[in-house]
Amino acid sequence: MPSIQLEINTGKLSGEGVITAQKKLSQLENVFEDEATRASMDQEQLIYEVQAFMPVEEGKEGGLYFGNSTIFPGKVNEEYFMTRGHFHAKLDTAEYYWCIQGKGALILMDENGKTWLEEMTPGSVHYIPGKIAHRVANTGEEKLVFNACWPSEAGHDYGTIEKEGFGARLKDIEGTPTLVATKNE
Ligand code: F6R
Ligand code: ZN
Repeated sequence: MPSIQLEINTGKLSGEGVITAQKKLSQLENVFEDEATRASMDQEQLIYEVQAFMPVEEGKEGGLYFGNSTIFPGKVNEEYFMTRGHFHAKLDTAEYYWCIQGKGALILMDENGKTWLEEMTPGSVHYIPGKIAHRVANTGEEKLVFNACWPSEAGHDYGTIEKEGFGARLKDIEGTPTLVATKNE
């Protein structure tokens, strides 16, 4: 079994089997409310980076995956840079997130569209129960870094969020991160 290393100050993972993926603005079409502004910005802008260590086959029951996510600071109009967000494909599977660096918000939504948030600050630990969609926004001026641990059978359902979105969006309203309800709520 390969073993990996977690850099304690930065949350970065290294070692055999760690994969890294980047999301640039060009890959986030229709994720932000103001699509026209997103399309007019620098498409090479890195929005977030995800590392994952997946020691067992995806979909196999009983294993655990370990990840690191970094979200860069910035906004598309009033909306903070954020992850796409997802439900788990095997809906009733939970996940832990914990914040290493920066300032942000974990945006959560139940199956009825009820949306709320938990503030993320270094050391905050977040239990995301099954059946809850999750997305993270960087509300600070520096990068937001968090680690995650989730079951190998969880999988990812991005389609539901692509179609229906969250019940609210996190915007900078006069300098304060504010959840603003969307029409579909
Ligand atoms: C895994 C998980 C995280 C996210 C990552 C990127 O279940 O929740 O590792 O995958 O923060 O966000 P998404 O996947 O929504 O683009
Ligand atoms: Zn997840």
